[in-house]
Amino acid sequence: MDKLLIRGGTPLSGEVRISGAKNAALPIMCAALLSAAPLRLANVPHLRDVTTLLNLLGGMGVAVSLDQKLGLELDAGRLHTPLAPYDLVKTMRASILVLGPLLARCGEARVSLPGGCAIGQRPVDLHIKGLQAMGADIRVEQGYIIARAKRLKGARIFTDLVTVTGTENLMMAACLADGISVIENAAREPEVVDLANCLKAMGANIEGAGSDTITIEGVSALASAAHRIMPDRIETGTFLVAAAATGGAVKLRNTSARILDAVVDKLREAGANVTAEDDAITLEMDGPPKSVNLRTSPYPAFPTDMQAQFMALDCIARGTAVLTETIFENRFMHALELQRLGADIEISGNTAVVKGVPHLDGATVMATDLRASASLVIAGLVAKGDTVIERIYHLDRGYECIEEKLSQLGARIKRIQ
Ligand code: EPZ
Repeated sequence: MDKLLIRGGTPLSGEVRISGAKNAALPIMCAALLSAAPLRLANVPHLRDVTTLLNLLGGMGVAVSLDQKLGLELDAGRLHTPLAPYDLVKTMRASILVLGPLLARCGEARVSLPGGCAIGQRPVDLHIKGLQAMGADIRVEQGYIIARAKRLKGARIFTDLVTVTGTENLMMAACLADGISVIENAAREPEVVDLANCLKAMGANIEGAGSDTITIEGVSALASAAHRIMPDRIETGTFLVAAAATGGAVKLRNTSARILDAVVDKLREAGANVTAEDDAITLEMDGPPKSVNLRTSPYPAFPTDMQAQFMALDCIARGTAVLTETIFENRFMHALELQRLGADIEISGNTAVVKGVPHLDGATVMATDLRASASLVIAGLVAKGDTVIERIYHLDRGYECIEEKLSQLGARIKRIQ
């Protein structure tokens, strides 16, 4: 299994290009299932999760082709097997995003239940409840969701919790339903808006994406379209926090500060000078970071996917920080590993109290989930001496060429077997 070896102590400096957003690319690739005409996508990130989804779609009969500019074309014209098997779904929970499109396009779907993951139980009951409200007959048998619907009917759906992929699944299904659907308490994440923009380019009638109420008027079929995936705001935030933690100065291109206001506010609170341009962000530190408190919440508030990275920053900041995780029930696994590097962290329930220490000391640590891995990379960049991070396949799921990008910024990092 691959590991990352990091020698800490070098402030990050220079420029790096941000990739397309994983959490926009995944639902948008599933949207290809809704149409018999090809969907052409640009700025798709080269990630393990994207490869997994391409395998899943290929198995259903979707024709996948890459053009010379690394653009992706997905053609679901000859879709023949509406099945998402366990062996693929277990490696990527976001596979649940094929359920709504398959049901809407084929009238049937067999999708393995994703199961939980390190950060939480991750149920999909709200996806199922919403599709049932649209008239789907859904049973769960031997670990599979068996769904049927002659034609989905428009419905008014209220999701008990704000669910990002739940909102995306229901919005995609509603595009081909008979009549008007209204999703109340909808997720407002920028990735939901990016998906809606792609669906509208394909001919869908959608109003209100980005607000908590999305209205979709179903159409009989969707057409061909071309769409460019939005920048990855979590990769952006991760590199900004790494630059702040190492006391560096970086410029991130092909991204925007507009999609991560809450993160930029927290970085400024920590003492970072952040300047936003049209498609770039610059961060400079003129001193050690100050501790920042945070509480994760649905967009536009502070994103849960940035909590682990900020915990690493708070470990070496001046002061004491209180971090509260309100979205997932077990998203502090990185704290146990940070403590191996010398961090002073007290966990009680969904709250972590982090006392800044003068420095961390390199050690061998283990990645447990995607953003926890990013947190350990940041800690390794600031720790004295060498840090080895094991099980970095978690990292490869969500960060494109992370060691190349960090090396470009001056980090001493390499992948070892
Ligand atoms: C999406 O996951 C993201 N993944 C996650 O990013 C992100 O952490 C999460 O949204 C929250 O922002 C993708 O977009 C592919 P939710 P999702 O449904 O949709 C509960 C990463 O690091 N819930 O918004 O699965 C759930 O347990 C990943 O890139 C139900 O109870 O998250 C959680 O407590 C990690 N029933 C809360 O809602 C449901 O049917 C929010 O989950 C659905 C969700």
